Amino acid sequence: MTSALPWFSPFSFPLYLAPMAGVSDKIFRQLCKERGADVLVTEFVSAEGVFRRNERTREYLDFDECERPIGVQLFGGNAEHMAEAARHVVDWVCPDFIDLNFGCPVNKVVAKNGGSALLKDCPALTAVANAVVRAVAPLPVTAKIRIGWDANSINAPQVAHILEDCGIAALAVHGRTRAQGYSGAADWEVIGQVAAAVSIPVIGNGDLTTPEDVVRRRVQTGIAGVMIGRAAMSSPWIFQEIKHYLATGEHLLATDPAEKWSLILRHCQLAVKEWGDEDQAMRSLRARLMAYSRGFAGAKSLREKFQHVTSVAEVEEIGREYLAPSLDLVGSTS
Ligand SMILES: Cc1cc2nc3c(=O)[nH]c(=O)nc-3n(C[C@H](O)[C@H](O)[C@H](O)COP(=O)(O)O)c2cc1C
Repeated sequence: MTSALPWFSPFSFPLYLAPMAGVSDKIFRQLCKERGADVLVTEFVSAEGVFRRNERTREYLDFDECERPIGVQLFGGNAEHMAEAARHVVDWVCPDFIDLNFGCPVNKVVAKNGGSALLKDCPALTAVANAVVRAVAPLPVTAKIRIGWDANSINAPQVAHILEDCGIAALAVHGRTRAQGYSGAADWEVIGQVAAAVSIPVIGNGDLTTPEDVVRRRVQTGIAGVMIGRAAMSSPWIFQEIKHYLATGEHLLATDPAEKWSLILRHCQLAVKEWGDEDQAMRSLRARLMAYSRGFAGAKSLREKFQHVTSVAEVEEIGREYLAPSLDLVGSTS
């Protein structure tokens, strides 16, 4: 397999952080990168917003050099506007690639023929992919799809062929249909069929939560890399755990709770700096803190505490309380 994307080689198996609206912002992406994520993608960005030079939309495009390689993900159903938007994005921020969203299940997006709606309108999908590939060449364009619209119209292998013919450089496949939303299990059989159907790199996505999952799915499907979403929300350190396991076949020592807390605190501090308003930043972080709590024993009580935090100092105090028993233990043995 040869690829226009240098992070794919016969000896590599890149770990992507999944694009997640409201989650994979600049701060979170950088924390995941520090913990071993190889390739980052922005949250989805509206091509119409870019096209209309909406200021808020521009904020979603912001990234730092340390995040490379990074792709900007665009969604929209109008080929001309998508192409024009992609060109603007390249002029403004020069990402390493443009990623096309053909998987979003949200009604508002689908109603305008964007996201997963294009899976059941292959001529429109072809027009979007062709227009964007042509508009930004030689910059690579990748795509992210679901396996189909619903259980009766699973067409990911056909869609993958079309996208390969359009010049798409790599394809991420979330193993669910649009109708499934996030329910049920990801269908890795179909992901395997896609990997077998095309010669561009296929990145498998859906329900990966442990290093063993990644190895099992890699062997099962012949994918060229994986993309991790929700598991990274609660455990950004999952990337380094997977990397170590892939390299050695052995598990890293479980990430120390104190190290986890220091990452969470850094997330809070960076968010406060970015927002310039501690109260607002902490309110916006509550859902993220609750996601982090899933990576800890006693998650329920942590979740309750995180629901009300208004300052970094409070999070620090919750962490101190949480870690106190283990610190006592360390004290008693020294
Ligand atoms: C909160 C949230 C936001 C998401 N936003 C996007 C998005 O902007 N673009 C996209 O292609 N997929 C998006 N997804 C889907 C994920 O990228 C991924 O395909 C899905 O979560 C399955 O992977 P996982 O089981 O590893 O979480 C989102 C998922 C979640 C949970």
